[in-house]
Amino acid sequence: MEARRVLCHLDDLEDDSTRGFDPDGQGRDTLFVVRKRGRVFAYRDECPHYRGTTTLPWRKDGYLDSSAEFIVCAAHGAKFEIETGLCVHGPCLGESLPTVSLSISQDGKVIVEC
Ligand code: FES
Repeated sequence: MEARRVLCHLDDLEDDSTRGFDPDGQGRDTLFVVRKRGRVFAYRDECPHYRGTTTLPWRKDGYLDSSAEFIVCAAHGAKFEIETGLCVHGPCLGESLPTVSLSISQDGKVIVEC
């Protein structure tokens, strides 16, 4: 069953930045958000290469490539569009990161349903 969870405040996310979260207390980040050009996107931290059993970042919150234009998986270099999660380069070309429903409250809370 999905639950609404407040992750942080919009002001906590700088533009061109990402941040991982562990809303279920699993001891590791299981989803992440990306803020890009004022918009915010959320995905599960599960690379579709190897059927979602591998996490993406090369370090805590390290989900973007050096240009900050793509989400990147550190394991084998797959690149994903920030806006859609679609893999556009690498071994899972054409597959997508699992999306997480996200909304911003009027007072700026970043809320996901997961
Ligand atoms: S596990 Fe992500 S590209 Fe291979």
